[in-house]
Amino acid sequence: MSDPAAPRFATDPATAAYYQQRAAEYDDWYLGTGVFADRDRPGWAAEVERLTVLLAHLTSRRTLDVACGSGFLTRHLPGQLTAVDQSPAMVAITRGRVPDATVLTADALRLPFPDGAFERVFSGHFYGHLPAGERDRFLTEARRVASELVIVDTARRPDTPSQRWDERVLNDGSRHRVFKRFLTAAELAEEIDGEIILDGAWFVAAGSVRR
Ligand SMILES: C[S@@+](CC[C@H](N)C(=O)[O-])C[C@H]1O[C@@H](n2cnc3c(N)ncnc32)[C@H](O)[C@@H]1O
Repeated sequence: MSDPAAPRFATDPATAAYYQQRAAEYDDWYLGTGVFADRDRPGWAAEVERLTVLLAHLTSRRTLDVACGSGFLTRHLPGQLTAVDQSPAMVAITRGRVPDATVLTADALRLPFPDGAFERVFSGHFYGHLPAGERDRFLTEARRVASELVIVDTARRPDTPSQRWDERVLNDGSRHRVFKRFLTAAELAEEIDGEIILDGAWFVAAGSVRR
């Protein structure tokens, strides 16, 4: 029997409700607005810019963005785009922001696409939330639908542990708990059996190709 206290993210109804509620203010995290206005994040804006430029310069591929959120990163990905998220509010924002993409409400752990439907799966700030069981399911699905995988996540900083329950506060003052792992670029690359793409102070990225 599964342990009811074990961490969950992609299969946790409370986490799903949190992101649905957060959708309209999700970009505050990237932009340093709303509840993030007071955060001291030296070099953050420059690294967000570096990340988006790096994504825009990836080789153009038929890409599926899994757990696309508000499409903040999706819009920079080159090639024919499909994006999925389980939150209808996130999907609506991404549809407006990336009009040429096909954007669907779907479960990242049960992708509604045939084997090999894409050349690349991209996923930002999703993999690093997943505990082991969900991680395996995501990787199996990602590799089923595409041979290439590119993951972007939050870098592990000197003051962050390797994993924790993150306390999150939304602009309305509501409080939420979200499971989160923090990986170095080398750890991320090793976990997905790939190469480091970005080893930043705030973000890490790695890519792998299965032949
Ligand atoms: C931290 S946000 C990342 C958004 C975006 N990819 C980015 O990099 O900014 C995590 C996203 O995962 C989505 N999500 C969580 N569980 C999911 C699941 N089982 N299937 C699809 N999306 C899921 C949430 O709705 C949320 O939009």
